[in-house]
Amino acid sequence: MAGNTSGTLFAVTTFGESHGPAIGCVIDGCPPGLALGEQDFVADLARRASGRTRHTSQRRETDAVEILSGLYEGRTTGTPIALLIRNTDARSRDYDDLLDTFRPAHADYTYWQKYGIRDPRGGGRSSARETTMRVAAGVIAKKWLAERHGVRVRGYLAQLGAITAQRPADGAIDWEAVERNAFFWPDAAQVPELETAMDALRKAGDSVGARVTVVAEGVPPGWGEPIYGKLDAELAAALMSINAVKGVEIGDGFASVAQHGSEHRDEMTPAGFLSNHAGGVLGGISSGQPVICSIALKPTSSIRMPGRSVNRQGEPVEVVTTGRHDPCVGIRATPIAEAMVALVLMDLALRHRAQCGDVGPVTPRIPGS
Ligand SMILES: Cc1cc2nc3c(=O)[nH]c(=O)nc-3n(C[C@H](O)[C@H](O)[C@H](O)COP(=O)(O)O)c2cc1C
Repeated sequence: MAGNTSGTLFAVTTFGESHGPAIGCVIDGCPPGLALGEQDFVADLARRASGRTRHTSQRRETDAVEILSGLYEGRTTGTPIALLIRNTDARSRDYDDLLDTFRPAHADYTYWQKYGIRDPRGGGRSSARETTMRVAAGVIAKKWLAERHGVRVRGYLAQLGAITAQRPADGAIDWEAVERNAFFWPDAAQVPELETAMDALRKAGDSVGARVTVVAEGVPPGWGEPIYGKLDAELAAALMSINAVKGVEIGDGFASVAQHGSEHRDEMTPAGFLSNHAGGVLGGISSGQPVICSIALKPTSSIRMPGRSVNRQGEPVEVVTTGRHDPCVGIRATPIAEAMVALVLMDLALRHRAQCGDVGPVTPRIPGS
């Protein structure tokens, strides 16, 4: 199956299915000398894992990474890094019914039409289980970006269904609060409201959409290619490749439609930018402001509420999906979105270094807003 690799100089190829023996990835192009060990992966994989709370799928993934290659004495050697995670809690019988029927809004129908064969167990390759390896590869990118450039990539859940995260007047995000609840929600006071909404949803057998925002701080000016390979275009493609994502915004995104130029432009003074409507990207190139992007995730398609579909013979059927599913896939999407942003930034940092590494500072860098 083509289409399993992302990145140019930092290229990540993932493999594996939801209910196969293992999932994994090969990362080609990691610079040599980066200290790396299996313990580096623990925190982010635990943030992505299901079963942390009653509000996500109850599949309990242990997600222990094995590093198969690319390291010598705890440092990357510049050769391909292969990572493997064995699948431990797959209940394939939950999916027997799906062999013959297509869940509305899932990838069952399109995979079948494209390949003429499909692994229905847990959604096979279309399962978000694959995103575990993006998070693992993202750990390496985050570490390199932090050590080499002081870049920090962090995300939060900005909206769950109709509930929007409250922000203080200065717009600051309480990153400590984000990490203290399983929703990645920045306002602790709203968490009980989320819990109530999710309990009602689970009882009803329905699902809901969400919005996740990622902020990358410390990105220097200059990353991103001018025409093809623009930073915002690469971010959009990478974020759109996450399962269930139906929209991507950079900076103010679609809100820019109703703005005037006098409002949207981020004015500059020697003391810094005065605003960040652009989300840190101008002309496809990072401006030195925080890079800000958001994704819209659709509601989970596998729900207990009956829905109409067809079977492989094209006959009408009623689909009711049981098994262990996320009632809101956005809850676990925050670390995945962070990982995709980190992968893009690292790839573009290496590409910038390859062509423009000798340019050096030309104008004093002004701080972001
Ligand atoms: C973290 C995460 C968890 C997901 N969990 C489920 C799930 O439990 N059940 C489900 O039907 N879809 C789930 N999805 C969404 C499907 O993988 C996705 O809808 C499917 O592959 C079809 O692709 P599309 O929605 O991008 O068109 C999840 C997505 C993410 C990002």
